[in-house]
Amino acid sequence: MSAEEPAHHHEHGGGEDKKRGQDSWNDSAKEYNDMGLASATSVKCVDFTLAFMKNVKPYSFNAGSGLKVLEFGCGPGKVILGLSELVSEGVGMDLAPNMISIFESAIESKGLSATYRGQVLQKTDASELPKAYYDLVLAPFVLHHVSEPSSALKRLVEAVLPSGHLIVAELVDLEEMMEEHNVERGVHGWLEEGRIDGLLEGLKLPNLKKVKAEYMTATHDGESISLLIYVIERVAV
Ligand SMILES: C[S@@+](CC[C@H](N)C(=O)[O-])C[C@H]1O[C@@H](n2cnc3c(N)ncnc32)[C@H](O)[C@@H]1O
Repeated sequence: MSAEEPAHHHEHGGGEDKKRGQDSWNDSAKEYNDMGLASATSVKCVDFTLAFMKNVKPYSFNAGSGLKVLEFGCGPGKVILGLSELVSEGVGMDLAPNMISIFESAIESKGLSATYRGQVLQKTDASELPKAYYDLVLAPFVLHHVSEPSSALKRLVEAVLPSGHLIVAELVDLEEMMEEHNVERGVHGWLEEGRIDGLLEGLKLPNLKKVKAEYMTATHDGESISLLIYVIERVAV
């Protein structure tokens, strides 16, 4: 971090921070897409979600019946694309247009244009999400980039249909190597399990249930990173 950074923060406040995070993701879209360790975290999310959803009762996954799925902060969309066997309508939303371009190229090259689409978000606060629409909403490795995670979490759970699920993934046990990432990419605070518990409680929404929190490790080329997958159900009444 350069010596000017703190003054810079004071002068421009959160808005400038947010913008910088956005630009950084947009500029590094290709690099992120090619990053082996990031891809390994996507694979972990895909494997977990496939196993989890196949056990969820209302869904039978018989031929023809698929799920409406949203990935918020989808980046290149590796998580949502990895779930294609479950998905009848898949939407990936992201602030960074370059991320959405990579996602759209992948949709096309996999021949999945009838099922998937990308959407560039105009706002940073998840306020463009529809209400009670998706069977499954995914927010992998994005909530720590949102300046007000509580209201974003509210919008994410509100986008879920009754009996549907929100699956959040976060990185945990981060070391100093992430310092630079924190500044560059506009990280506002990592979400540990206890913090998500607190945010969820704070929403005071009826019918929300913490289903499970699972820890795992993604590895690539001898490098490892720990992650938490946190599942919330919007219980039907
Ligand atoms: C670490 S990447 C995760 C991408 C993808 N979910 C994955 O697991 O590979 C974070 C993504 O969140 C996006 N992002 C950051 N802040 C956001 C916000 N406020 N709303 C929506 N997307 C955001 C970034 O552009 C980036 O693509």
